[in-house]
Amino acid sequence: MIVKFWSGGMRLVCELALRPLALVFWSILGARALDNGLALTPTMGWLHWERFMCNLDCQEEPDACISEQLFMQMAELMASDGWRDAGYEYLCIDDCWMAPERDSKGQLQADPQRFPSGIKHLANFVHSKGLKLGIYADVGNKTCAGFPGSFGYYDIDAQTFADWGIDLLKFDGCYCTNVVSLADGYKHMSLALNRTGRSIVYSCEWPLYLRPFHKPNYTDIQHYCNHWRNFNDVYDSWESIKSILAWTVINQKEIVEVAGPGGWNDPDMLVIGNFGLSWDQQVTQMALWAIMAAPLLMSNDLRQISSQAKALLQNKDVIAVNQDPLGKQGYCFRKENHFEVWERPLSNLAWAVAIRNLQEIGGPLSYTMQISSLGRGLACNPGCTITQLLPEKAHLGFYQWTLTLKTRINPSGTVLLRLER
Ligand SMILES: *[C@@H]1O[C@H](CO)[C@@H](O)[C@H](O)[C@H]1NC(C)=O
Ligand SMILES: *[C@@H]1O[C@H](CO)[C@@H](O)[C@H](O)[C@H]1NC(C)=O
Ligand SMILES: *[C@@H]1O[C@H](CO)[C@@H](O)[C@H](O)[C@H]1NC(C)=O
Repeated sequence: MIVKFWSGGMRLVCELALRPLALVFWSILGARALDNGLALTPTMGWLHWERFMCNLDCQEEPDACISEQLFMQMAELMASDGWRDAGYEYLCIDDCWMAPERDSKGQLQADPQRFPSGIKHLANFVHSKGLKLGIYADVGNKTCAGFPGSFGYYDIDAQTFADWGIDLLKFDGCYCTNVVSLADGYKHMSLALNRTGRSIVYSCEWPLYLRPFHKPNYTDIQHYCNHWRNFNDVYDSWESIKSILAWTVINQKEIVEVAGPGGWNDPDMLVIGNFGLSWDQQVTQMALWAIMAAPLLMSNDLRQISSQAKALLQNKDVIAVNQDPLGKQGYCFRKENHFEVWERPLSNLAWAVAIRNLQEIGGPLSYTMQISSLGRGLACNPGCTITQLLPEKAHLGFYQWTLTLKTRINPSGTVLLRLER
């Protein structure tokens, strides 16, 4: 987590990202994804950071501090409240789980007060609920919050995580002083995880920390990582969500075609169900994270979440778009007036289309599209059945290629459609 503030006024350029030639490269690039058989669709789960951060105060805030109790409660709810069955499988620990020092053998250890039973015990409990456990470490000399880093200990730490029964590693990039150590460290850890023989999803922040120095080589990155953060940490705010989407549009030519089964661009956590987003803004995050083939890692409090946010996060149709087995990331292809239109190719010649109303004043606005302009002209040729998935489900019927479709969208909201041949 690099703490950075978004400087406003980013210019939105939205154009067709992918020319037919790019389609050819997709399949070639796909074959070079990290060969661990994991993350064939984007990872789904829960990650503590955005909601619980580095809360160490279990005296004053026993329900919000980073402790085994927090993760056991979340595991129970993920199993009992439909999250696991909706696909949210990975329960992930972020920074601040460690004791301040390694043990006498040089191994990482959990904080003994906050994790008295240890991580192996927690992993067993999480597995008993039909879930998987994720953990966090750092490529440099310290984690972002100042706990022991893995530099010089990559093999030991990979083995420790495998011995504990860990299923995902988020590897941060703080306290790494140069770009050579950054690349070497991310690669070394990937190989070390492989050598343990345990299937462990590898979540990187390599391009995020590399970008200040030079353009990331995504061919390299996808060869070592299952997903990778490109941009700043998400905050519980609409400014943050907008900045992530704006960054993605500006850089889509570089990042969209790299994504595929086994390797995904990670725009960071879903903050749906927290404090900062209106209903329409939550719909926008869910719709666009589905279009972007993003990992769906919620950071919220499953003990206190509105039924509306829960229904949005568990929406089967939207999750099916996110998890589509074709594994192609969507892109923005049109920006006009106050609207931005995104689309994503899906399996069986289907497409998902998202239309955002960018205006943040006034009431709902209407937007009319030529059916023939969708899905590179292919989606509805000669016709297609259109279902609106968000903000609520509606069967819009059959549309011929020559027709138009009119939608009405709330300020800062999104309409998500599915087009089937
Ligand atoms: C390790 O990598 C090899 C080849 O790159 C792959 O076949 C194997 O499945 C990997 N093992 C694990 C545990 O990821
Ligand atoms: C960690 O600290 C050592 C000693 O100061 C230094 O030599 C090394 O380059 C640091 N590692 C990274 C990845 O910055
Ligand atoms: C990116 O990395 C790949 C694989 O390591 C390498 O073959 C390629 O030349 C690199 N591309 C650039 C532009 O450096």
